[in-house]
Amino acid sequence: MFKSIIAGVGHYVPENIVTNDDLSKLMTTNDEWITERTGIKERHYRKNRNDSEETTAFLGFKAAENALKNSNLTAKDLDFIVFATLSPDYFFPGCGVLIQEMLGCETIGALDVRNQCSGFVYAMSVANAYIKSGEYKNILVVGAEIHSFGLDFSDAGRSVSVIFGDGAGAVILTASNDENKQGILATNLHSEGKYAEELCNKFPGSKFGWSDRVLTEPNAVSADEIYPTMNGNFVFKHAVTRFPETIMEVLNSAGKTLEDLDMFIPHQANLRIAQFIQKKLNLPEEKVFNNIQKYGNTTAASIPLALSEAIEKGKIKRGDLVCLSAFGSGFTWGSILLEY
Ligand code: UT7
Repeated sequence: MFKSIIAGVGHYVPENIVTNDDLSKLMTTNDEWITERTGIKERHYRKNRNDSEETTAFLGFKAAENALKNSNLTAKDLDFIVFATLSPDYFFPGCGVLIQEMLGCETIGALDVRNQCSGFVYAMSVANAYIKSGEYKNILVVGAEIHSFGLDFSDAGRSVSVIFGDGAGAVILTASNDENKQGILATNLHSEGKYAEELCNKFPGSKFGWSDRVLTEPNAVSADEIYPTMNGNFVFKHAVTRFPETIMEVLNSAGKTLEDLDMFIPHQANLRIAQFIQKKLNLPEEKVFNNIQKYGNTTAASIPLALSEAIEKGKIKRGDLVCLSAFGSGFTWGSILLEY
């Protein structure tokens, strides 16, 4: 059976930086509240909220170009794409096909994954299964989001809007049967759909009859349907329970322990969640990588964006045991354990 090796990782964020002070000009908030509750100091938004060029697929494309560069492969070498996002360019089709065109790949398959904060973990798990089975050899896995176009910048939306940012990350997974390379050792995926509405975006959704309402009734769609809503405390409590469970599960599956771990990269939802997990599992601070301070929560992009930066900064080296874990809307959660 083949093993899935990381050939290259890359990331990309729009240039435009938005600080907590910038947000305090749009809504009643302040740097102290945001920093204390989330650890976030700034995030990147595309310059123009209504830009039709710097889209989610475009960010993913730029991250993919960087990942390809770092892997010494070209777009022509790819034989499958998995694209994770909750903020696609179109309601349909997904971003996978758009990036296939942007990269100039052959007419390879392109799959979109709709698993929000866990999207990248789900996407990696799918790609890993394809590679292990021998179906595909070089798979591009992308996580990308443009959140800034769809947030409620009024006071009603402030507890959600201050958290999110735009960005993208990408990984090239490649098949190997080299005895000296381990690659992905274990994965797990979970869901609990009874909590779907605890963190969701209702519009546009078939449950809410949106097309008829929008076309026939003026002001038919309310702000809490158009914008993402979150029961923050509830999500927080579930996150700090599920993260340690999925981490221990993936370590056990591979016969590894917490002591074996060189680096843990949690989905960048909230710095306080990451710190809680670190303390609960008794992990040394230097073995948990966070960059939410600079980017906010970039949902499906957060893990590959953090992985890419951690590698760039030399905090992860070839052969290191790395755990990637996520929890979020769905609820969905899961982990990937890999030897880089
Ligand atoms: O990535 C997907 C998974 N997401 C997560 O894991 C996020 C989990 N949840 C969280 O990170 C936190 O719940 C939040 C950061 C979203 C919110 O923090 P919190 O400590 O749960 O705050 P809260 O919503 O309970 O609000 C506390 C107070 C409220 O005021 P009162 O009612 O106590 O007077 C809010 O109105 O803070 C107020 N508030 C704000 N104040 C200033 C809420 N948002 C803001 C704001 N600025 N942006």
